[in-house]
Amino acid sequence: MNAMSENRTGRTGRTGRTVRAAALGAALALAAGACGGVGDAARPEGESGTVGISMPTKSWERWVQDGENMVASLEEAGYGTDLQYAEDVVEDQVAQIENMITKDVDVLVVAPVDGEALTEVVGSAEDAGIPVLSYDRLIMESEGVDAYATFDNFGVGVLQGEYIAQELGLDEAEGPLAIELFGGSPDDNNAYYFYDGAMSVLQPYIDDGVLEVPSGQTEMNQIATMRWDGAVAQDRMDNLLGAHYSDRELDAVLSPFDGISTGVISSLKGAGYGTDDKPLPVVTGQDAETASVKSIIAGEQTQTVFKDTRALADSAAEMADALARGEEPEVDDTETYDNGAKVVPARLLEPVSVDASNYEEVLIDSGYYEESDLK
Ligand code: GAL
Repeated sequence: MNAMSENRTGRTGRTGRTVRAAALGAALALAAGACGGVGDAARPEGESGTVGISMPTKSWERWVQDGENMVASLEEAGYGTDLQYAEDVVEDQVAQIENMITKDVDVLVVAPVDGEALTEVVGSAEDAGIPVLSYDRLIMESEGVDAYATFDNFGVGVLQGEYIAQELGLDEAEGPLAIELFGGSPDDNNAYYFYDGAMSVLQPYIDDGVLEVPSGQTEMNQIATMRWDGAVAQDRMDNLLGAHYSDRELDAVLSPFDGISTGVISSLKGAGYGTDDKPLPVVTGQDAETASVKSIIAGEQTQTVFKDTRALADSAAEMADALARGEEPEVDDTETYDNGAKVVPARLLEPVSVDASNYEEVLIDSGYYEESDLK
């Protein structure tokens, strides 16, 4: 099932800018009047002003890379930055953003911990005349969100669904093949897009009986994983395996995020999967976290979706720059992202499916990772 293609082209891709953000703690220079807070790093105001960057957590590499790449892109454009991480605590994120508003930053760039929890603080930013750019995740129920820098989130789910369809050969299979579905965090708007994208591919096979979900759990409210927590996913997989797989094997797991995939794979290995007799099912993922890319190389996780945080940071920095100048940022989608209060104009980047056959080309040749990062 986990057939890995040997097609490693090693073709030279675009050489990416390697961001070497200096040790973040070293440049602590809080803007005048700031009270510090649960802060991470504030850099002195640049010639073009200061951008407050509020990120959800350092627990996953991608957000660390996002933060570093944003600081680098904005500094190149002449901005100082105030980068804060909320460690998935909603109240801390609100306090950090309030602090940035007090410091009168020129623009706020925010990836929310909980998309629904920032209405009030974004309202304060709006009152203070500070533009807000939603970063990767959409801030919901807020008029004050000016623009959204993200990836094609529906497209991420399509890549995951298509990968499963192709690996299981669903177009030729008679089935029923067994799949279980995992969703992302219910308070993250992206999770619904990933799910909808994946189901746009998988649902027809379920309807035809080629794919079967033995647990019967197919709705987001049954499969969501609060805060994208791998341990929560691991527990759920344990329960599913115990309740529905005593006399059959699992062929695929739709996982929307590498952290969830890691939990799922631990559970599967605990239940005896991962041997010649009982190979691991196809397991998708997202973010190309190094642990997951290593797992792909080792033949455990099957796929991930790479979203180049260098490109997202460049795109977001450009949009933040336009907002700081009082201009409209360039966008390419003015229809998809309704946050409940308005349709937020968005700029979408293309995600890329990565497996054992192309990780070298996509992740190493592009300079995103060094070979040694994946050893
Ligand atoms: C989503 C994001 C994914 C993944 C996940 C967990 O909002 O789009 O790429 O990072 O959060 O952090």
